[in-house]
Amino acid sequence: KIDLQQFAVENAEQLEAFRMRFISKKSVVGELFGLMKDVAPESRKEFGMIVNEVKQAADNRFKELIEQLENTKGQTGEMLIDLTLPPVPNELGTIHPLSLVRNRIIEIFERMGFNVSEGPEIEDDWHNFTALNFPENHPAREMQDTFFIEKNPDIALRTHTSSVQVRVMENEKPPIRTLSPGRVYRNEAISARAHCFFHQVEGLYIDENVSFADLKQTLYHFAKELFGPETKVRFRPSFFPFTEPSAEMDISCDIDNPKGCQLCGGSKNICKGTGWVEIGGAGMVDPNVLENSGIDSEKYTGFAFGMGIERITMLKFQIRDLRLFSENDVRFLRQFTSAN
Ligand code: PHE
Repeated sequence: KIDLQQFAVENAEQLEAFRMRFISKKSVVGELFGLMKDVAPESRKEFGMIVNEVKQAADNRFKELIEQLENTKGQTGEMLIDLTLPPVPNELGTIHPLSLVRNRIIEIFERMGFNVSEGPEIEDDWHNFTALNFPENHPAREMQDTFFIEKNPDIALRTHTSSVQVRVMENEKPPIRTLSPGRVYRNEAISARAHCFFHQVEGLYIDENVSFADLKQTLYHFAKELFGPETKVRFRPSFFPFTEPSAEMDISCDIDNPKGCQLCGGSKNICKGTGWVEIGGAGMVDPNVLENSGIDSEKYTGFAFGMGIERITMLKFQIRDLRLFSENDVRFLRQFTSAN
């Protein structure tokens, strides 16, 4: 008879030795079971009971030893794992450059009292076109620009975030100051400068006595915050069905900087040597749009603007190819940590 209590273990190896000796198939206990067939039939029952008792005792002791080892592990700091192995690296992801810039844009406008709103990417004709004063035969409604999902009634992937303007005005009363970032879709050939989906951020400000001067000042402030205090802004007359008057907004390229432009790194292909790059459209919300959205156009005026987030991100980080944003190459994505 062996006193199992005399066995103690200090580490995993000794525990394994105990298991080999008393628990495994080839252990002494295992061998006893093997002897069963040689025992005279009339004694088998008794023999079996004894062997089972031994097995039970061995199992119990084994459990105790595991527990003991776990406990001493806690006290002595000894572990069952090999601390000399190289660690599995803890890979941290990075925030996508488009998200960095979107968040930075939101931050700037939030400090001017804008909130953030969102609308659906699958949009009906009313919110994407009709309420925004697009005439029935406007070319943007046609297949080459818009991904239609259903015809009659028309359902499409939204072609701009201006659709969110309408949704906000339908649901809220002025004063409205809202920023609507999101993905938009256009049926365009993919190249370094264009993609069939991209991101915009829409701004909308509706209140009594909102003027074009408010629009200009808001966007001046934004441009200086995002691109630096030296940045100049200019507005060129333009046309959008939903704003009147309308403008295109340019920011200054650092064209005379001998060290090269901070936006295009000296390669003149972004500003094409003009010293200005376009970052979005803007204008005073057309009274028809206000009325279509349930806002009294006699009492309220407002401005709206829309900017391409890819465009701004490319300028901010001197990125030359728009396709990089959607390729998920970690060598590209890892380079961005902040858009401040
Ligand atoms: N929706 C316009 C575009 O996608 C941009 C814009 C928004 C222009 C708001 C004016 C006012 O080009």
